[in-house]
Amino acid sequence: MKKAFVKSYGCQMNAYDAGRMADLLAAEGYSATETVEEADVVVLNTCHIREKASEKVFSEVGRLRVLKAERAQAGLDTRIVVAGCVAQAEGREILARTPAVDVVVGPQSYHRLPELLAESRSRRVVDTEFPIEDKFSKLPARRNRGVTGFLTIQEGCDKFCAFCVVPYTRGAEVSRPVAQIRAEAEAMLAGGVREITLIGQNVNAYHGEAPGGGSATLADLMRALSDLPGLARLRYTTSHPNDMGDDLIAAHGDNPLVMPYLHLPVQSGSTRVLQAMNRKHTADEYRRLIARVREARPDIALSSDFIVGFPGETDAEFEETMRLVADIDFASAFSFKYSPRAGTPAAEREDAIPEAVKTERLARLQHLLDQQRHAFNESMVGRTVEVLVEKAGRHPGQVAGKTPHLLMVQIDAPASTIGTLLTVRITRSGANSLFGELLPDAAAA
Ligand code: SAH
Ligand code: SF4
Ligand code: F3S
Repeated sequence: MKKAFVKSYGCQMNAYDAGRMADLLAAEGYSATETVEEADVVVLNTCHIREKASEKVFSEVGRLRVLKAERAQAGLDTRIVVAGCVAQAEGREILARTPAVDVVVGPQSYHRLPELLAESRSRRVVDTEFPIEDKFSKLPARRNRGVTGFLTIQEGCDKFCAFCVVPYTRGAEVSRPVAQIRAEAEAMLAGGVREITLIGQNVNAYHGEAPGGGSATLADLMRALSDLPGLARLRYTTSHPNDMGDDLIAAHGDNPLVMPYLHLPVQSGSTRVLQAMNRKHTADEYRRLIARVREARPDIALSSDFIVGFPGETDAEFEETMRLVADIDFASAFSFKYSPRAGTPAAEREDAIPEAVKTERLARLQHLLDQQRHAFNESMVGRTVEVLVEKAGRHPGQVAGKTPHLLMVQIDAPASTIGTLLTVRITRSGANSLFGELLPDAAAA
């Protein structure tokens, strides 16, 4: 049997796409492998968001070139595919720079992967079109892996933040119809999924076709999914502050399937910097929005993304970010040094912040965010929570799963609990995980 190795280097949507490419290859008779040496097809699903992410692919392809040559000596063919956002952004340059690559395919045309692989027998191929046809309707039925899964409901972005490549690599914003999403969710649930994370680059800008005509919001969509048998939890990511509709905020209070967790990137605590980033809201508007979300769901865990050292960011403006973090108190967060990306407006600016300053700011910000994360984890100790068991735990006799607040917990419980909800008392908080004990008579959910 032929084997395929598919690896994701990017965001959740990139991971989703990698899974769908594996589905496509499975339908063509390829079994999945985690061992790249035995793969007949290798797919690298790349990310272009920061320079580090996008450079990774070239070192990876360098290693694969050696592997491909070794396999060729043994009479084995290896097809190397570069997919994802670097493929979209750099297209033909990848072919020029990396002779070992056979196929370059962008995020909106990967449903054509089998044809492209066939074509690649006679010539190297690039497909970075944004085809009119709906990629999703061309994909084979979804195969499942695991208890939790991502489901893309919306793609692309029309917001054009000054630093960001996504509008160029993913194209314009498009929402999938509710009925199509429901069908995919049903397939996931039939395969054993209990928790679905709805994903999109601007997931709360969702405005898909409603079954009865008109358009549905994200809150409408979540309501439409809530009666699906077997579905225990819903999450969504990534949202934009300007698309937090009243009904979505309310859903955190009144839809029991919507988990008390919100990833809401703010990027900076300085209104001047936010304006320069083209985020189109102020720091105080963000604070007020968070207050409203907390009113709807007081125990909600908040998460965010931050960029330090955006061109022109002064010391005082960075301090405003520190203040915003101190005011809001995040349960988790991602923070990055600004990375100039060719083709984006911010990359043209001449007031770049020196690397050493970015490094210092990032360290200070991460220190504060780490403190907040630890405090949040500690605050769970002694509490009783519901854990959706996902997999075997770190040690024999243990399983691991997540709390509603998206914290991983290790529990002494048998593997037969995988896929169920357990009521667990949190006993201890470690560096990367919580530890919990099963409450008597609680294993029935
Ligand atoms: N759509 C999401 C963000 C997707 S990209 C939103 O608008 O919030 C994920 C994160 O990567 C961003 O939130 C931002 O913090 C970071 N990022 C994007 N471009 C970047 C760049 N050029 N340099 C550093 N970080 C960047
Ligand atoms: Fe990028 Fe901004 Fe769109 Fe998010 S909203 S994907 S940061 S352009
Ligand atoms: Fe990266 Fe593309 Fe996602 S650039 S963050 S893989 S949308």
